[in-house]
Amino acid sequence: MDFQFTEEQLAVQAAARDFAQSELWAGVIERDEHQKFPAEQIKKMGELGFMGMMVSPEYGGGGMDTVSYVLAMEEISKVDASCSVIMSVNNSLVCWGLEKYGTEEQKQKYLPRLTSGEIIGAFCLSEPEAGSDATMQRTTAEDMGDHYLLNGTKNWITNGSTASVYLVIAQTNPELKHRGINALIIEKDTPGFVVGLKENKLGIRGSDTHSLMFTDVKVPKENRIGEDGFGFKFAMHVLAGGRIGIAAQALGIASGAFELALKYSKERKAFGVEIAKHQAIQFKLADMATDIDAARLLCLQAAQDKDNHVDYTKSGAMAKLFASKVAMDTTAEAVQVHGGYGFVKEFHVERFYRDAKITQIYEGTSEIQKIVISRELLK
Ligand code: CAA
Repeated sequence: MDFQFTEEQLAVQAAARDFAQSELWAGVIERDEHQKFPAEQIKKMGELGFMGMMVSPEYGGGGMDTVSYVLAMEEISKVDASCSVIMSVNNSLVCWGLEKYGTEEQKQKYLPRLTSGEIIGAFCLSEPEAGSDATMQRTTAEDMGDHYLLNGTKNWITNGSTASVYLVIAQTNPELKHRGINALIIEKDTPGFVVGLKENKLGIRGSDTHSLMFTDVKVPKENRIGEDGFGFKFAMHVLAGGRIGIAAQALGIASGAFELALKYSKERKAFGVEIAKHQAIQFKLADMATDIDAARLLCLQAAQDKDNHVDYTKSGAMAKLFASKVAMDTTAEAVQVHGGYGFVKEFHVERFYRDAKITQIYEGTSEIQKIVISRELLK
Protein backbone atom coordinates (compact mmCIF):
# COMPACT_ATOMS: atom_id res chain seq x y z
CA MET A 1 0.00 0.00 0.00
CA ASP A 2 1.36 3.37 -0.95
CA PHE A 3 -0.63 6.40 0.11
CA GLN A 4 1.77 9.15 -0.82
CA PHE A 5 -0.76 11.37 -2.52
CA THR A 6 0.13 12.99 -5.82
CA GLU A 7 0.06 16.76 -6.18
CA GLU A 8 -3.13 16.41 -8.20
CA GLN A 9 -4.85 14.37 -5.47
CA LEU A 10 -3.80 16.88 -2.82
CA ALA A 11 -5.12 19.72 -4.97
CA VAL A 12 -8.51 17.99 -5.31
CA GLN A 13 -8.63 17.43 -1.54
CA ALA A 14 -7.76 21.09 -0.87
CA ALA A 15 -10.37 22.31 -3.37
CA ALA A 16 -13.08 20.12 -1.80
CA ARG A 17 -12.10 21.24 1.70
CA ASP A 18 -12.10 24.88 0.70
CA PHE A 19 -15.51 24.58 -0.97
CA ALA A 20 -17.06 22.64 1.92
CA GLN A 21 -15.71 24.97 4.59
CA SER A 22 -16.59 28.18 2.78
CA GLU A 23 -19.85 27.27 1.02
CA LEU A 24 -21.53 24.43 2.90
CA TRP A 25 -21.48 25.44 6.58
CA ALA A 26 -23.73 28.42 5.95
CA GLY A 27 -27.31 27.20 5.96
CA VAL A 28 -26.56 23.55 6.68
CA ILE A 29 -28.64 23.53 9.89
CA GLU A 30 -31.54 25.24 8.12
CA ARG A 31 -31.38 22.86 5.16
CA ASP A 32 -31.44 19.93 7.56
CA GLU A 33 -34.26 21.36 9.66
CA HIS A 34 -36.51 22.19 6.69
CA GLN A 35 -35.44 19.31 4.44
CA LYS A 36 -34.30 21.87 1.90
CA PHE A 37 -32.53 20.46 -1.15
CA PRO A 38 -29.11 22.17 -1.62
CA ALA A 39 -29.79 23.20 -5.22
CA GLU A 40 -27.36 26.13 -5.35
CA GLN A 41 -24.61 24.16 -3.64
CA ILE A 42 -25.00 21.21 -6.04
CA LYS A 43 -24.87 23.58 -9.00
CA LYS A 44 -21.56 24.97 -7.71
CA MET A 45 -20.27 21.46 -7.09
CA GLY A 46 -21.01 20.71 -10.73
CA GLU A 47 -19.12 23.82 -11.84
CA LEU A 48 -16.15 22.80 -9.70
CA GLY A 49 -16.10 19.32 -11.21
CA PHE A 50 -17.35 17.33 -8.18
CA MET A 51 -20.38 15.80 -9.90
CA GLY A 52 -18.56 13.70 -12.48
CA MET A 53 -15.10 13.37 -11.02
CA MET A 54 -14.13 10.01 -12.50
CA VAL A 55 -15.79 10.44 -15.90
CA SER A 56 -13.44 10.84 -18.86
CA PRO A 57 -12.91 14.45 -20.06
CA GLU A 58 -14.28 13.27 -23.42
CA TYR A 59 -17.74 13.29 -21.75
CA GLY A 60 -17.13 16.41 -19.69
CA GLY A 61 -15.79 14.67 -16.57
CA GLY A 62 -12.71 15.30 -14.48
CA GLY A 63 -10.90 12.11 -15.52
CA MET A 64 -9.79 11.67 -11.90
CA ASP A 65 -9.02 8.51 -9.99
CA THR A 66 -11.04 6.91 -7.19
CA VAL A 67 -8.50 8.02 -4.55
CA SER A 68 -9.21 11.67 -5.46
CA TYR A 69 -12.93 10.92 -5.29
CA VAL A 70 -12.58 9.45 -1.77
CA LEU A 71 -10.57 12.48 -0.62
CA ALA A 72 -13.22 14.86 -1.97
CA MET A 73 -16.12 12.81 -0.54
CA GLU A 74 -14.53 12.92 2.92
CA GLU A 75 -14.15 16.70 2.80
CA ILE A 76 -17.71 17.37 1.60
CA SER A 77 -19.14 14.88 4.14
CA LYS A 78 -17.23 16.55 6.97
CA VAL A 79 -19.67 19.43 6.61
CA ASP A 80 -22.82 18.27 4.81
CA ALA A 81 -23.62 14.59 4.25
CA SER A 82 -26.77 15.55 2.31
CA CYS A 83 -24.61 17.15 -0.37
CA SER A 84 -22.25 14.19 -0.36
CA VAL A 85 -24.96 11.57 -0.89
CA ILE A 86 -26.26 13.51 -3.90
CA MET A 87 -22.67 13.68 -5.16
CA SER A 88 -22.09 10.00 -4.43
CA VAL A 89 -25.17 8.72 -6.28
CA ASN A 90 -24.43 10.96 -9.27
CA ASN A 91 -20.74 9.98 -9.46
CA SER A 92 -20.53 6.35 -8.38
CA LEU A 93 -23.84 4.93 -9.48
CA VAL A 94 -25.20 6.99 -12.35
CA CYS A 95 -22.13 8.42 -14.14
CA TRP A 96 -19.90 5.42 -13.52
CA GLY A 97 -22.62 2.96 -14.56
CA LEU A 98 -23.36 4.86 -17.76
CA GLU A 99 -19.74 5.36 -18.72
CA LYS A 100 -18.78 1.75 -18.03
CA TYR A 101 -21.78 -0.02 -19.56
CA GLY A 102 -23.71 2.52 -21.64
CA THR A 103 -23.68 2.78 -25.42
CA GLU A 104 -21.77 5.63 -27.07
CA GLU A 105 -25.08 7.32 -27.78
CA GLN A 106 -26.22 7.05 -24.14
CA LYS A 107 -22.90 8.46 -22.90
CA GLN A 108 -23.00 11.40 -25.32
CA LYS A 109 -26.61 12.10 -24.47
CA TYR A 110 -26.39 12.10 -20.67
CA LEU A 111 -22.85 12.32 -19.32
CA PRO A 112 -21.91 15.92 -20.22
CA ARG A 113 -25.02 17.28 -18.47
CA LEU A 114 -24.63 14.92 -15.48
CA THR A 115 -20.98 15.80 -14.95
CA SER A 116 -21.53 19.55 -15.20
CA GLY A 117 -24.28 19.49 -12.59
CA GLU A 118 -26.82 20.80 -15.12
CA ILE A 119 -28.86 17.70 -14.29
CA ILE A 120 -28.52 14.98 -11.67
CA GLY A 121 -29.27 11.29 -11.78
CA ALA A 122 -30.93 8.67 -9.60
CA PHE A 123 -30.38 4.94 -9.22
CA CYS A 124 -33.58 2.96 -8.70
CA LEU A 125 -33.22 -0.57 -7.35
CA SER A 126 -35.03 -0.72 -3.99
CA GLU A 127 -38.71 -1.61 -3.86
CA PRO A 128 -41.27 -1.98 -1.08
CA GLU A 129 -40.45 -5.71 -1.00
CA ALA A 130 -36.95 -5.78 -2.48
CA GLY A 131 -34.34 -4.00 -0.38
CA SER A 132 -31.56 -6.34 0.69
CA ASP A 133 -33.00 -9.17 -1.42
CA ALA A 134 -32.44 -7.28 -4.63
CA THR A 135 -33.21 -10.18 -7.00
CA MET A 136 -36.91 -9.99 -5.97
CA GLN A 137 -37.76 -7.17 -8.37
CA ARG A 138 -41.53 -6.69 -8.75
CA THR A 139 -41.22 -3.78 -11.15
CA THR A 140 -41.71 -5.25 -14.60
CA ALA A 141 -40.29 -4.19 -17.96
CA GLU A 142 -42.38 -6.16 -20.42
CA ASP A 143 -40.69 -6.67 -23.78
CA MET A 144 -43.03 -5.19 -26.43
CA GLY A 145 -40.70 -5.59 -29.41
CA ASP A 146 -39.31 -2.11 -30.03
CA HIS A 147 -39.87 -0.90 -26.46
CA TYR A 148 -40.40 -2.01 -22.85
CA LEU A 149 -43.56 -1.34 -20.86
CA LEU A 150 -42.54 -0.42 -17.34
CA ASN A 151 -44.88 -0.95 -14.37
CA GLY A 152 -44.17 -0.89 -10.65
CA THR A 153 -42.99 1.11 -7.66
CA LYS A 154 -39.52 2.02 -6.39
CA ASN A 155 -38.86 3.10 -2.83
CA TRP A 156 -36.33 5.27 -0.96
CA ILE A 157 -34.84 6.75 -4.11
CA THR A 158 -32.15 9.36 -3.48
CA ASN A 159 -32.57 12.42 -5.77
CA GLY A 160 -36.09 11.07 -6.36
CA SER A 161 -37.73 14.38 -7.34
CA THR A 162 -34.66 16.41 -8.28
CA ALA A 163 -33.14 13.98 -10.77
CA SER A 164 -33.72 14.25 -14.50
CA VAL A 165 -32.33 10.84 -15.43
CA TYR A 166 -33.24 7.60 -13.64
CA LEU A 167 -31.51 4.24 -13.98
CA VAL A 168 -34.33 1.81 -13.22
CA ILE A 169 -33.86 -1.90 -12.53
CA ALA A 170 -36.84 -4.06 -13.57
CA GLN A 171 -37.79 -7.65 -14.27
CA THR A 172 -38.40 -8.62 -17.91
CA ASN A 173 -38.37 -12.38 -17.72
CA PRO A 174 -39.32 -13.75 -14.27
CA GLU A 175 -38.58 -17.34 -15.34
CA LEU A 176 -34.93 -16.40 -15.67
CA LYS A 177 -34.94 -14.86 -12.15
CA HIS A 178 -32.04 -12.40 -11.76
CA ARG A 179 -30.84 -13.18 -15.30
CA GLY A 180 -34.13 -11.78 -16.65
CA ILE A 181 -33.63 -8.34 -15.07
CA ASN A 182 -32.84 -5.21 -17.12
CA ALA A 183 -31.51 -1.72 -16.36
CA LEU A 184 -33.34 1.05 -18.23
CA ILE A 185 -32.78 4.79 -18.57
CA ILE A 186 -35.94 6.82 -17.89
CA GLU A 187 -36.24 10.55 -18.30
CA LYS A 188 -38.21 12.62 -15.81
CA ASP A 189 -41.09 13.75 -18.00
CA THR A 190 -41.85 10.35 -19.57
CA PRO A 191 -45.65 9.79 -19.55
CA GLY A 192 -46.78 7.37 -16.83
CA PHE A 193 -43.86 8.18 -14.52
CA VAL A 194 -44.94 9.84 -11.27
CA VAL A 195 -42.77 10.92 -8.34
CA GLY A 196 -44.38 9.95 -5.03
CA LEU A 197 -44.24 11.48 -1.57
CA LYS A 198 -41.02 12.77 -0.05
CA GLU A 199 -39.77 10.76 2.94
CA ASN A 200 -39.41 12.59 6.27
CA LYS A 201 -36.05 11.24 7.39
CA LEU A 202 -33.92 10.93 10.52
CA GLY A 203 -30.80 12.17 8.72
CA ILE A 204 -29.39 13.43 5.42
CA ARG A 205 -32.52 15.54 5.40
CA GLY A 206 -31.27 17.97 2.75
CA SER A 207 -31.29 15.22 0.15
CA ASP A 208 -34.66 14.26 -1.29
CA THR A 209 -35.80 10.65 -0.98
CA HIS A 210 -38.98 9.56 -2.74
CA SER A 211 -40.97 6.61 -3.95
CA LEU A 212 -41.47 6.47 -7.73
CA MET A 213 -44.44 5.03 -9.59
CA PHE A 214 -44.39 3.70 -13.15
CA THR A 215 -47.64 2.94 -14.97
CA ASP A 216 -47.37 1.68 -18.54
CA VAL A 217 -44.26 3.75 -19.12
CA LYS A 218 -43.02 3.23 -22.67
CA VAL A 219 -39.24 2.89 -22.68
CA PRO A 220 -37.45 2.64 -26.05
CA LYS A 221 -35.18 -0.39 -26.41
CA GLU A 222 -32.19 1.90 -26.97
CA ASN A 223 -32.57 3.00 -23.32
CA ARG A 224 -31.54 -0.42 -22.04
CA ILE A 225 -28.07 -0.57 -20.50
CA GLY A 226 -26.07 -3.58 -21.66
CA GLU A 227 -27.35 -6.85 -23.08
CA ASP A 228 -30.83 -8.20 -22.39
CA GLY A 229 -30.81 -9.65 -18.84
CA PHE A 230 -27.70 -7.73 -17.68
CA GLY A 231 -29.62 -5.50 -15.26
CA PHE A 232 -28.94 -7.36 -12.02
CA LYS A 233 -25.22 -7.68 -12.71
CA PHE A 234 -25.19 -4.03 -13.71
CA ALA A 235 -26.67 -3.15 -10.31
CA MET A 236 -24.18 -5.34 -8.45
CA HIS A 237 -21.17 -3.90 -10.30
CA VAL A 238 -22.37 -0.34 -9.79
CA LEU A 239 -23.06 -0.90 -6.08
CA ALA A 240 -19.62 -2.45 -5.51
CA GLY A 241 -18.09 0.90 -6.51
CA GLY A 242 -20.83 2.91 -4.86
CA ARG A 243 -19.92 1.35 -1.52
CA ILE A 244 -16.50 3.01 -1.70
CA GLY A 245 -18.21 6.40 -2.01
CA ILE A 246 -20.53 5.71 0.93
CA ALA A 247 -17.57 4.42 2.98
CA ALA A 248 -15.85 7.76 2.30
CA GLN A 249 -19.05 9.55 3.28
CA ALA A 250 -19.13 7.67 6.60
CA LEU A 251 -15.46 8.54 7.09
CA GLY A 252 -16.21 12.22 6.50
CA ILE A 253 -19.15 12.22 8.92
CA ALA A 254 -16.86 10.68 11.56
CA SER A 255 -13.96 13.05 10.94
CA GLY A 256 -16.25 16.09 10.82
CA ALA A 257 -17.73 15.18 14.21
CA PHE A 258 -14.27 14.40 15.62
CA GLU A 259 -12.83 17.77 14.56
CA LEU A 260 -15.68 19.56 16.32
CA ALA A 261 -15.21 17.46 19.47
CA LEU A 262 -11.46 18.10 19.51
CA LYS A 263 -11.96 21.85 19.15
CA TYR A 264 -14.69 21.95 21.79
CA SER A 265 -12.59 19.93 24.26
CA LYS A 266 -9.91 22.64 24.15
CA GLU A 267 -12.43 25.44 24.75
CA ARG A 268 -14.86 24.09 27.33
CA LYS A 269 -13.79 24.18 30.95
CA ALA A 270 -14.94 21.87 33.74
CA PHE A 271 -13.47 21.33 37.18
CA GLY A 272 -11.21 24.34 36.64
CA VAL A 273 -9.49 23.19 33.42
CA GLU A 274 -10.24 22.61 29.73
CA ILE A 275 -12.03 19.28 29.43
CA ALA A 276 -9.25 18.09 27.06
CA LYS A 277 -7.02 17.99 30.14
CA HIS A 278 -9.21 15.25 31.65
CA GLN A 279 -8.17 11.72 30.85
CA ALA A 280 -11.82 10.71 30.35
CA ILE A 281 -11.94 13.01 27.32
CA GLN A 282 -8.41 12.20 26.14
CA PHE A 283 -9.28 8.50 25.95
CA LYS A 284 -12.32 9.29 23.82
CA LEU A 285 -10.29 11.48 21.46
CA ALA A 286 -7.61 8.79 21.13
CA ASP A 287 -10.18 6.10 20.28
CA MET A 288 -11.98 8.33 17.79
CA ALA A 289 -8.77 9.33 15.99
CA THR A 290 -7.53 5.72 15.82
CA ASP A 291 -10.84 4.47 14.41
CA ILE A 292 -10.94 7.27 11.84
CA ASP A 293 -7.40 6.57 10.62
CA ALA A 294 -8.21 2.86 10.28
CA ALA A 295 -11.40 3.66 8.34
CA ARG A 296 -9.49 6.03 6.07
CA LEU A 297 -6.92 3.33 5.28
CA LEU A 298 -9.69 0.89 4.32
CA CYS A 299 -11.36 3.51 2.10
CA LEU A 300 -8.08 4.30 0.37
CA GLN A 301 -7.28 0.60 -0.04
CA ALA A 302 -10.61 0.02 -1.79
CA ALA A 303 -10.12 3.12 -3.95
CA GLN A 304 -6.61 2.05 -4.86
CA ASP A 305 -7.86 -1.45 -5.76
CA LYS A 306 -10.40 0.11 -8.10
CA ASP A 307 -7.80 2.39 -9.66
CA ASN A 308 -5.40 -0.56 -10.09
CA HIS A 309 -8.14 -2.70 -11.69
CA VAL A 310 -7.95 -5.18 -8.82
CA ASP A 311 -11.29 -6.72 -7.72
CA TYR A 312 -12.65 -4.26 -5.12
CA THR A 313 -15.81 -6.15 -4.13
CA LYS A 314 -14.35 -7.23 -0.77
CA SER A 315 -12.26 -4.16 0.00
CA GLY A 316 -15.18 -1.84 -0.85
CA ALA A 317 -17.58 -3.81 1.37
CA MET A 318 -15.01 -3.89 4.20
CA ALA A 319 -14.47 -0.14 3.92
CA LYS A 320 -18.21 0.51 4.07
CA LEU A 321 -18.82 -1.94 6.92
CA PHE A 322 -16.04 -0.51 9.06
CA ALA A 323 -16.34 3.18 8.21
CA SER A 324 -20.10 3.20 8.86
CA LYS A 325 -19.55 1.63 12.31
CA VAL A 326 -16.85 4.22 13.00
CA ALA A 327 -19.29 6.94 11.93
CA MET A 328 -21.86 5.64 14.44
CA ASP A 329 -19.35 5.29 17.30
CA THR A 330 -17.50 8.55 16.66
CA THR A 331 -20.57 10.73 16.29
CA ALA A 332 -22.04 9.28 19.53
CA GLU A 333 -18.80 10.10 21.34
CA ALA A 334 -18.65 13.56 19.77
CA VAL A 335 -22.11 14.27 21.23
CA GLN A 336 -20.88 12.93 24.58
CA VAL A 337 -17.80 15.18 24.58
CA HIS A 338 -20.11 18.16 23.97
CA GLY A 339 -22.41 17.14 26.84
CA GLY A 340 -25.70 19.07 26.81
CA TYR A 341 -24.48 21.28 23.95
CA GLY A 342 -24.10 18.17 21.84
CA PHE A 343 -27.83 17.56 22.09
CA VAL A 344 -28.82 20.86 20.50
CA LYS A 345 -28.67 21.78 16.83
CA GLU A 346 -26.27 24.76 16.93
CA PHE A 347 -23.26 22.57 17.71
CA HIS A 348 -23.76 20.33 14.64
CA VAL A 349 -22.73 17.04 16.24
CA GLU A 350 -26.33 15.90 16.77
CA ARG A 351 -26.79 16.22 12.97
CA PHE A 352 -23.69 14.12 12.31
CA TYR A 353 -25.04 11.57 14.81
CA ARG A 354 -28.34 11.35 12.89
CA ASP A 355 -26.65 11.34 9.46
CA ALA A 356 -24.30 8.50 10.42
CA LYS A 357 -27.07 5.90 10.68
CA ILE A 358 -27.97 5.79 6.99
CA THR A 359 -24.41 4.75 6.09
CA GLN A 360 -25.19 1.39 7.74
CA ILE A 361 -28.33 1.01 5.64
CA TYR A 362 -28.09 2.31 2.08
CA GLU A 363 -26.11 0.70 -0.73
CA GLY A 364 -26.44 -2.49 1.28
CA THR A 365 -26.90 -2.81 5.04
CA SER A 366 -23.97 -3.78 7.26
CA GLU A 367 -25.34 -7.31 7.24
CA ILE A 368 -25.23 -7.33 3.40
CA GLN A 369 -21.59 -6.13 3.52
CA LYS A 370 -20.78 -9.10 5.78
CA ILE A 371 -22.45 -11.44 3.28
CA VAL A 372 -20.43 -9.91 0.43
CA ILE A 373 -17.16 -10.10 2.39
CA SER A 374 -17.65 -13.67 3.61
CA ARG A 375 -18.60 -14.85 0.10
CA GLU A 376 -15.36 -13.43 -1.23
CA LEU A 377 -13.40 -15.08 1.59
CA LEU A 378 -15.02 -18.45 0.98
CA LYS A 379 -14.71 -18.39 -2.84
N1 CAA B 1 -20.49 -8.13 -8.83
C1 CAA B 1 -20.88 -8.76 -9.95
N2 CAA B 1 -21.81 -9.73 -9.97
C2 CAA B 1 -22.37 -10.07 -8.80
C3 CAA B 1 -22.02 -9.46 -7.58
C4 CAA B 1 -21.03 -8.46 -7.64
N3 CAA B 1 -20.61 -7.80 -6.54
N4 CAA B 1 -22.75 -10.01 -6.60
C5 CAA B 1 -23.54 -10.94 -7.17
N5 CAA B 1 -23.30 -10.96 -8.50
C6 CAA B 1 -23.93 -11.83 -9.50
C7 CAA B 1 -23.64 -13.30 -9.21
O1 CAA B 1 -22.43 -13.73 -9.82
C8 CAA B 1 -24.85 -14.00 -9.82
O2 CAA B 1 -24.71 -14.14 -11.20
P1 CAA B 1 -24.84 -15.57 -11.96
O3 CAA B 1 -26.04 -16.25 -11.40
O4 CAA B 1 -24.94 -15.21 -13.38
O5 CAA B 1 -23.58 -16.28 -11.62
C9 CAA B 1 -25.95 -12.98 -9.61
O6 CAA B 1 -25.33 -11.70 -9.43
C10 CAA B 1 -26.82 -13.31 -8.42
O7 CAA B 1 -25.97 -13.43 -7.33
P2 CAA B 1 -26.37 -14.13 -5.98
O8 CAA B 1 -27.03 -15.46 -6.27
O9 CAA B 1 -25.18 -14.11 -5.13
O10 CAA B 1 -27.51 -13.14 -5.45
P3 CAA B 1 -28.22 -13.10 -4.06
O11 CAA B 1 -29.67 -13.01 -4.28
O12 CAA B 1 -27.72 -14.18 -3.16
O13 CAA B 1 -27.81 -11.64 -3.46
C11 CAA B 1 -26.60 -9.78 -2.67
C12 CAA B 1 -26.63 -11.03 -3.58
C13 CAA B 1 -25.12 -9.43 -2.56
C14 CAA B 1 -27.15 -10.02 -1.29
C15 CAA B 1 -27.38 -8.65 -3.40
O14 CAA B 1 -28.75 -8.94 -3.47
C16 CAA B 1 -27.19 -7.29 -2.78
O15 CAA B 1 -26.16 -6.66 -2.97
N6 CAA B 1 -28.21 -6.77 -2.02
C17 CAA B 1 -28.18 -5.44 -1.49
C18 CAA B 1 -28.75 -4.47 -2.48
C19 CAA B 1 -28.40 -3.05 -2.16
O16 CAA B 1 -27.24 -2.71 -1.92
N7 CAA B 1 -29.40 -2.17 -2.20
C20 CAA B 1 -29.17 -0.78 -2.01
C21 CAA B 1 -30.06 0.02 -2.91
S1 CAA B 1 -29.28 1.28 -3.82
C22 CAA B 1 -29.06 2.59 -2.78
O17 CAA B 1 -29.15 2.50 -1.61
C23 CAA B 1 -28.70 3.86 -3.47
C24 CAA B 1 -28.98 5.11 -2.71
O18 CAA B 1 -30.05 5.61 -2.74
C25 CAA B 1 -27.89 5.77 -1.98
